[in-house]
Amino acid sequence: MNQIYFRENLSVLKSLASDSIDLIYIDPPFNTGKKQSRTQIRTERSEEGDRTGFAGRRYQTSKVSTRAYDDIFEDYETFLEPRIREAHRVLAPHGSFYFHIDYREVHYCKVLLDKIFGRECFMNEIIWAYDYGARTTKKWPPKHDNILLYVKDPNCYVFNSDEIERIPYMAPGLVGPEKAARGKLPTDVWWHTIVPTNGKEKTGYPTQKPMGIMKRIIEASSNPGDLVLDFFAGSGTTGEACIMMKRRFILVDNNQEALEVMSHRFVNASNIEWIGFDNLPTTQHDEVQATLFGEVSVVR
Ligand SMILES: C[S@@+](CC[C@H](N)C(=O)[O-])C[C@H]1O[C@@H](n2cnc3c(N)ncnc32)[C@H](O)[C@@H]1O
Repeated sequence: MNQIYFRENLSVLKSLASDSIDLIYIDPPFNTGKKQSRTQIRTERSEEGDRTGFAGRRYQTSKVSTRAYDDIFEDYETFLEPRIREAHRVLAPHGSFYFHIDYREVHYCKVLLDKIFGRECFMNEIIWAYDYGARTTKKWPPKHDNILLYVKDPNCYVFNSDEIERIPYMAPGLVGPEKAARGKLPTDVWWHTIVPTNGKEKTGYPTQKPMGIMKRIIEASSNPGDLVLDFFAGSGTTGEACIMMKRRFILVDNNQEALEVMSHRFVNASNIEWIGFDNLPTTQHDEVQATLFGEVSVVR
């Protein structure tokens, strides 16, 4: 049975057995100093509408919901440290730990993780580069996140390089047709789009991460049947990737809205135990509407 907890994550971590988790991925709030929020809108045909679409047709937009969580910490390291210590304790001896952050805190987090895991257990700093959103003209526009990879034992850990989906060469003409057809193993710099604003993957939860990133992490650093933990779960991207790749999972979030989004996302998954959250039976689930502009709106 997979588990989803509506709870403060430190208490859940303390309840988990030592050495019991094969892979941990976390994407904590980045300490941006702001409230992270996203509003979903619904669009309907209406002659009096406020928006013009294809062939000059008029549409009316209305707000459906706003999802939000706080991303402001007075002392970020003091918040993180006990959670990372617990993560290290529950991680299996062959386990891997992925820590997703951005340029604002990555250097402090690296020092903290070196202290807890040991510098010899640091494997990679993955740069996830994307190309989306406003560009400041006052400095180089920051367009990447940082994902730090640590293992518990640098002499014994899972890394399935043969399982990783290969990517096209940048200059296929230089490597010959056979190699070009096979593609190459991704490096520690990952070019990947953010979750498309009107794509099927979109849940409406702020800071949702793309499935492509999660799938790559899970296929490289775990095996089918393994147990994966994400204790800053948000919209549950880790859980969905686990279902697709036949891993088991434990997800934790302390935001009611995250749990609501996950309950929609996993509406067809029967093997989930919901802890501290009253998940609606499938038949009572809210209507999910694909709007005329292709955006998915969840109507409560
Ligand atoms: C950056 S979001 C995670 C997004 C997620 N990776 C996704 O793809 O949707 C961070 C999440 O951590 C949750 N969170 C913050 N502090 C927490 C705590 N102490 N315990 C449990 N969840 C927490 C927030 O509610 C938020 O949903």
